[in-house]
Amino acid sequence: MCEQLMKLLFLTMGFQFSINLLVDAIPLSNSVLYKDSDPIVQMNVADFKSTIMATSNAWLIEFYSSWCGHCIDFAPAFIQLANDVKGWEKVIKVGAVDCAKDENIPLCRDFEIMGYPTIKFFPAFTDATQLGVARTGSKKVDSIRFSMIDYIEQQFVEKKAPPHWPLLGPLQNETIDDLWSHYNNNEIILLFEAVDNSKYWSREAIMDAHQYAPHYPPIRRVNAMRQDLITKYNVRSLPAFVFLERTGKSEVYQVQPDREYMKKIMRKFFDSENEAAVVIPKSTHTTREPHVVHEDVKPAKDVVYMADLEGALLYAFGHEVSIHKLIAGKELTALKKLIDVLDRYFPGRTGMKETIHTLRRNLENYKKQIGGEEFAELWRNALNGRETNQEWVGCRGSRPNFRGYPCGLWTTFHTLTVSYALKHPDDSEVDPALVLQAMKGFIKYFFGCAHCSNHFIDMAEDELNPIESVKSPRQAVLWLWAAHNKVNRRIASDASEDPKAPKIQFPASHNCPECRVDGVEREEAVYDYLVKLYSSEHINSTGLLVQTFPARSGSSRIQSLPLGTLSFTSYDISLCAAIYLVSSLILMLVLCRILVKRRRFVRKQVYDVCGKLM
Ligand SMILES: Cc1cc2nc3c(=O)[nH]c(=O)nc-3n(C[C@H](O)[C@H](O)[C@H](O)COP(=O)(O)OP(=O)(O)OC[C@H]3O[C@@H](n4cnc5c(N)ncnc54)[C@H](O)[C@@H]3O)c2cc1C
Ligand SMILES: *[C@@H]1O[C@H](CO)[C@@H](O)[C@H](O)[C@H]1NC(C)=O
Ligand SMILES: *[C@@H]1O[C@H](CO)[C@@H](O)[C@H](O)[C@H]1NC(C)=O
Repeated sequence: MCEQLMKLLFLTMGFQFSINLLVDAIPLSNSVLYKDSDPIVQMNVADFKSTIMATSNAWLIEFYSSWCGHCIDFAPAFIQLANDVKGWEKVIKVGAVDCAKDENIPLCRDFEIMGYPTIKFFPAFTDATQLGVARTGSKKVDSIRFSMIDYIEQQFVEKKAPPHWPLLGPLQNETIDDLWSHYNNNEIILLFEAVDNSKYWSREAIMDAHQYAPHYPPIRRVNAMRQDLITKYNVRSLPAFVFLERTGKSEVYQVQPDREYMKKIMRKFFDSENEAAVVIPKSTHTTREPHVVHEDVKPAKDVVYMADLEGALLYAFGHEVSIHKLIAGKELTALKKLIDVLDRYFPGRTGMKETIHTLRRNLENYKKQIGGEEFAELWRNALNGRETNQEWVGCRGSRPNFRGYPCGLWTTFHTLTVSYALKHPDDSEVDPALVLQAMKGFIKYFFGCAHCSNHFIDMAEDELNPIESVKSPRQAVLWLWAAHNKVNRRIASDASEDPKAPKIQFPASHNCPECRVDGVEREEAVYDYLVKLYSSEHINSTGLLVQTFPARSGSSRIQSLPLGTLSFTSYDISLCAAIYLVSSLILMLVLCRILVKRRRFVRKQVYDVCGKLM
C-alpha cells in the first residue's frame, strides 16, 4: 500500500511546476490631455525641478490625472487660459504634470498632490524646498487669470518679484519726473482708474503689453487719489488712457474698463512694427503620445471583466495610495478597512487574493502611520514579482483618457457589494453597509478625483438616504446602483464622457427590459440583474495577463479565455498539484501510522518505507 502511495507521490513531484501567479497592472494609458502646440509646458519627474527652478518667471502648474473626469472637462478651459496668458510668459508661465503616470508618483507625492486637478503657483527662482501655493476657487478662465494677477502682486509684496517684472501697483507719490528718470523709454502710458475700481482690466493691460517690452511703453496705473495728475492732464472722465512723451506732449483717451477693449486700443497705438516682437517660444517639453483612437471598444452588452477589477486594484494601491506622503489616523483606518473587505470578499484569482492577504497581514504591523513610499514597498512585496501592466478590457475607452480607472473602481465596488450580499443572504448577523463604508473611506481619502470624491461623500451622507440607512447587504447593492446612476445623470454628456460609452440610467433597457416598466424602475428585477452581472461565476477573464512565477519580463496575454478555462490556468493546476502533494503526504503518514499500529507484525517492513518520509 505504501508503495502505491509512493508512486502517486512521485507522479505528483514529477509534475512540471510552473506556478503562474497573478497579475497586475496598470492599465493606464499614456494619454495626456494637452498637445505640444498648446502653450503649456508639460513636465515630468525627470525635468520638473530643473524646469521650474532658477527661472525668472513664476509658474502656474496644473497637477492632473488623465483619467479624472474633472481634469478632462477642465482641459479645454486650461488650454484656453494658457493661450489667453501666453503673452505673460516673461512673468508667469503655465505648466502641467500628469500624476496618473507611474513615473510621476514621487513627484506628485513630494508636492503633496492629493486631488486632481490641483493648481499650484510657484515663485520665480523657486527652490527644491518649496511646495508651491495651491489655488482654490472657481475653475473659470477669468477667475484663474485674476488669481494669477493676485499672485504676481503678492510677489511684489514679498519682495520676490525680479526687477524685469512690470509694476502692477498704482502710482503712489511719484512725480512724472520720477517716472522719466526711472524708465528709459520716450513714452509712458498712464491708466486712470475710476474710484471704485478693483477690477483687473488695467493690470491685465499692463501684463498684456509687457510681452512687447522694451518696445512698448511702460504702463502705470493711476487711481483717483492722484487728483494732481487728473488735473494736470485734464482728464474729464474715468477711466482714461493718457499717452505721455518725454518731450512733454500728452494725449488723453477715454477707454472702457475691459481687457479686450484695451488690447484693441493698444494695438492701434503700436501695431505693425511691434508685431515682429511677438514671438512666442515654442514649448520644448513634450510628453504627449499621439492620440490613439481605439476602434475595438466593447459593445453595449454588460460584461464584467476580471482584467478591469485587477487593473483597478493595481492602480488603487500601486498609485493612488502610494502617492500619499503619509497615511495616518482616519486614512490608515479607511485603508485597512478596504483591504479587509477585499481580503474577505474580492472574488478574484488566487494570485490577487494572495497579494491582498499578504498586504493585509503586513499592514497590520503599522498601528499609527505608514509613509506612502513604505506602503508602495509593501505593495510591491505583496505582488511578489507579479506583472502589473494589465490593460483595461471592459473599461477600455475609445481614447486613452476615457474610462479606465474610475470605471474599474465602480466595477470593483459593485462586484464587492454583490459578493457580500451573496455571502450573507441572511441579513441579521452582519453590518449591512460594510462594503459601502469601506468604499466611502477609500473614496474620501484616496480617490484622486477631488470633485468626484466630494460628490460621493455628499451622497453617502445625504440625510434622506445615507449609507447608514441601508438595512441589508441586498439594499447595499441597490444603494450603490442608485448612487452610480445619480452620477451618470449628473455627468452625462460632459467632456469626459466617452462617446462610445454614453452615460445612461443603468441598466440599458435592451439588456434588462424588465428592470424598468413604463419608466418606473423595478428594484426586484434590477437586483437580479446586478447579482447576475457582478457575481463571481460570470466574471469574464478575457484579456488577463497570465502570470508566470517567478515573474519573467515578457508577459503573455490570454486572448480569449472562456470562464470555464479560468479555473484551470496553470497556476490553478499547479496549486492543485501542490495541495495534492501535501494531502498525499498527510494521507500517507496517517495510513502508515494506522498500518504500523494495526499490523505490528509487519512493523519493520512498513517503517522502512515510511521512515524516510517521517
Ligand atoms: C465614486 C466615484 C465618483 C465619481 N464621481 C464623478 C463625478 O462627480 N464627476 C465625474 O465627472 N466623474 C465622476 N466619476 C467618474 C465617472 O463616474 C466614470 O467612472 C467615468 O466617467 C468613466 O465612465 P464609464 O463610461 O467608464 O462608466 P462608469 O460610470 O465608470 O461605469 C462603469 C461600468 O459600470 C456599469 N454601470 C454603470 N452604471 C451603473 C449602475 N448604476 N449600477 C451598476 N453598474 C453600473 C457599466 O457597465 C459601466 O460600464 C466618479 C467615479 C467614481 C468611482
Ligand atoms: C513717497 O513716499 C515715500 C514713503 O511712502 C517716501 O519715502 C518718499 O520720500 C516719498 N516721495 C516723494 C517724492 O514724496
Ligand atoms: C468573455 O468576453 C469575450 C469578449 O467580450 C467573449 O467573446 C466571450 O464569449 C466571453 N466569455 C464568456 C465565458 O462569456
